[in-house]
Amino acid sequence: MKANHCGSVSPVVPLCNSMPFFFLAFVLIVPTVVAGTMKKNIGIGHLDSFIKEQVQNATKTAINAYNPDPESVVHNFNKLVHESLKGTNSTRRNLKGKKCMATNPIDRCWRCNKNWANNRQDLAKCVRGFGEHTTGGMGGRYYVVTDSSDHDVLTPKKGTLRYGVIQDKPLWIIFERPMVITLKEELMINHDKTIDGRGVIVHIAYGAGLTIQFVHNVIIHGIRIHHIVSKNGGYIRDSLAHFGLRTVSDGDGISIFGASKVWIDHVSLDHCADGLIDAIMASTALTISNCKFNYHNDVMLLGADDNFTGDEIMQVTVAFNRFGKGLVQRMPRCRWGFFHVVNNDYNKWEMYAIGGSMNPTIVSQGNRFRASDNVHAKEVTHRDHFPQKVWKHWKWRTVNDLFLNGAFFVPSGDHSEVAHKLKNFMVQAKDGSCVGRLTRYAGMLKCTAGRPC
Ligand SMILES: *[C@@H]1O[C@H](CO)[C@@H](O)[C@H](O)[C@H]1NC(C)=O
Ligand SMILES: *[C@@H]1O[C@H](CO)[C@@H](O)[C@H](O)[C@H]1NC(C)=O
Ligand SMILES: *[C@@H]1O[C@H](CO)[C@@H](O)[C@H](O)[C@H]1NC(C)=O
Repeated sequence: MKANHCGSVSPVVPLCNSMPFFFLAFVLIVPTVVAGTMKKNIGIGHLDSFIKEQVQNATKTAINAYNPDPESVVHNFNKLVHESLKGTNSTRRNLKGKKCMATNPIDRCWRCNKNWANNRQDLAKCVRGFGEHTTGGMGGRYYVVTDSSDHDVLTPKKGTLRYGVIQDKPLWIIFERPMVITLKEELMINHDKTIDGRGVIVHIAYGAGLTIQFVHNVIIHGIRIHHIVSKNGGYIRDSLAHFGLRTVSDGDGISIFGASKVWIDHVSLDHCADGLIDAIMASTALTISNCKFNYHNDVMLLGADDNFTGDEIMQVTVAFNRFGKGLVQRMPRCRWGFFHVVNNDYNKWEMYAIGGSMNPTIVSQGNRFRASDNVHAKEVTHRDHFPQKVWKHWKWRTVNDLFLNGAFFVPSGDHSEVAHKLKNFMVQAKDGSCVGRLTRYAGMLKCTAGRPC
């Protein structure tokens, strides 16, 4: 492989630096979930005392996970991308003729280790961006899914995926063999869980999707989620101690609702009845990376309600994803919070790529935007509901993005403060021409135990 300005792709060993911690409490608006005035379906049929306590806990955890200095997260992330494309000397020493082509800092943290299957929990050290403190089921036991069925959502059978995700302790969930899991109703995932599909091909398909509601610390990795449909709801168990009445589910691939510290990596998503990934109701500390999105209208909704100021604490990194064929809009669509959209590959969206309303901060860096031939779909950006005299204050900036086939981004807001900092110490994002390399392995990977992945 030839080296260019994107750096040579040299095989590497894990390079996991811990990032500075900023766990400062930052009190914002406590979500008034109970009001139930959401535009988006809350899913809860009856707000019992357990759920009320869960909402209180989730709010506290989310506020603690909020980072008062989001630009530092942007800066650190970009720095890591530069380092990963440069390669290091130690990596060469461990080369031993084995090819490992991991190109971005998340992948380089684990994919080149041929013993990944014996050290699965090391993955939890590899998350970068706003989700950086997500550990999922790290430290917990392994739970092996042996049964692909989902007949009983109230008393799930041991061996099923549902039995694993409702446990109260940290759990690292893996799969015995390739399987297609058709969920009878939403999969209610409890806190401190990793769903790790590496090494087998796991489809969640033709049934309900995944729900991460009022819990924290969840990793979803290495699976395919497709053809998710709306379900009627009913009594569903969400933890050992509790089950509740759920109303109709929207048919999202992954629904993140009032949750914090969630990392979704190397997941392939397509054809869901509603969003592929929706994160709403003051969800924060999220990283969505290395995913592949295809064939869908509403791809990614980050904040669902113009009137819900609780979403000001949303902080999301969207990185190294491939927005592929047949996508229409919302990649992502943002409200209120802070969104770092970096080094993603966008291909021929049908309406727009990145949109939003309600003064979200959107930092678009080093993406590759390839517009379709439709002259009405060249603009990357889209502002809903508001006249220019309002949105001209929203901070949307584009740095080092690559625009192809007439694509263009309409920036807004005053960035002078950031521009000043950038001049002094910040590392710019790796530019959009490196995106092909950075996203080459987006989506579910095919890994074999005993070999670099
Ligand atoms: C809320 O948090 C407390 C303290 O961590 C915990 O004991 C309790 O089980 C949590 N309640 C719910 C419903 O999650
Ligand atoms: C690589 O090794 C050379 C020579 O030992 C050294 O000068 C250089 O600083 C090293 N680079 C890195 C990235 O460690
Ligand atoms: C927000 O609230 C205002 C006033 O209550 C209402 O008129 C408007 O329709 C709401 N907007 C949305 C998007 O719900």
